[in-house]
Amino acid sequence: METKELIDRLERDHILTQEEYTAIITNHTTQDMEYLFEKARKLREQYYQKDVYVRGLIEFSNYCKNDCFYCGIRCSNRNAQRYRLREDEILECANQGYELGFRTFVLQGGEDLSYSARQIGELVKKIKQAHPDCAITLSIGEREKEVYQYWYDCGAQRYLLRHETATKEHYQALHPKEMSWEHRIQCLRDLKEIGYQVGAGFMVGSPYQTAAHLAKELCFLKDFDPHMVGIGPFIAQKDSPFAKEKNGTLRETLLMLGLIRLTLPKVLLPATTALGTIDPKGREKGILAGANVVMPNLSPVSVRKKYELYDNKICTGEESAQCRGCLENRMESVGYHIVTSRGDYVSFFENK
Ligand code: 5AD
Ligand code: FES
Repeated sequence: METKELIDRLERDHILTQEEYTAIITNHTTQDMEYLFEKARKLREQYYQKDVYVRGLIEFSNYCKNDCFYCGIRCSNRNAQRYRLREDEILECANQGYELGFRTFVLQGGEDLSYSARQIGELVKKIKQAHPDCAITLSIGEREKEVYQYWYDCGAQRYLLRHETATKEHYQALHPKEMSWEHRIQCLRDLKEIGYQVGAGFMVGSPYQTAAHLAKELCFLKDFDPHMVGIGPFIAQKDSPFAKEKNGTLRETLLMLGLIRLTLPKVLLPATTALGTIDPKGREKGILAGANVVMPNLSPVSVRKKYELYDNKICTGEESAQCRGCLENRMESVGYHIVTSRGDYVSFFENK
């Protein structure tokens, strides 16, 4: 079947077989991509018009107990300058973000067990107390279901945990043997069961990834049906075991964004910082391929450079207000506008 026909069918049914996805990924032309993006934009505009949601990202610790082969803050990277923000510093970031119009915050960090579950819970409560109209997202890795439940009860309603790859063997090639794919997927299921709006995701072009793996990502996402999907190109980090590996490409990342939009029409789909790092217009192109979220950085400038998961990460010298303004201009330049509402998944409240 022609690639265009497959895209038509995906637009109609929002699902293809793994083989069909593989066929698109291996055979598409530049024209096919344009065709896909047009449909992706049409679909996203049905639900979200020209709106782009913003989430303020607060990277509060780069300590991590894990040793993922691709990541700059892996525990065995002796060159990483470690930092952790105190509670008052995190609250200050949130306050600043609130002043700038943000109504949703993502608290992200390495798996840093020096913050107890209770400290995180208290932090969530304090932000909620100060700003009851805000949504809080946590992105701090794998924990017990009871802990996830406790944080949810404290007021966190969203959780980002990229699954990194839907293929167990591929997961093992990207992580040390202490880390388990099954456990990661179990965490995602637990989060969903508790009632979080859940974000899954993966890197495009990570070492050993094939077209069949990417096709499987789409099948996995269709089946798991997350509220959000964070994807970005793999970018080599100079101190990591993958320092010499090839980066993921703009083209393949955009293709995946378009295919995800047609597979999960209502999904919250960020045009990520990594996409903006491999191409100066990466995030704008991501929006034009079907993305509908951007996540400017609200971390204090003094620590930004230290949260380098990959080389040459953008926005490490800019103040929060600069990133806010910069993204606004970038979105306007392609005919979209930032909205500061909480940006919930469209049918989240209808479902409950
Ligand atoms: N390149 C691109 N993305 C990376 N991440 C970690 N290291 C890299 C890298 N070298 C992504 C992972 C993780 C998220 C926080 O950042 O997918 O889940
Ligand atoms: Fe940070 Fe452009 S978004 S400088």
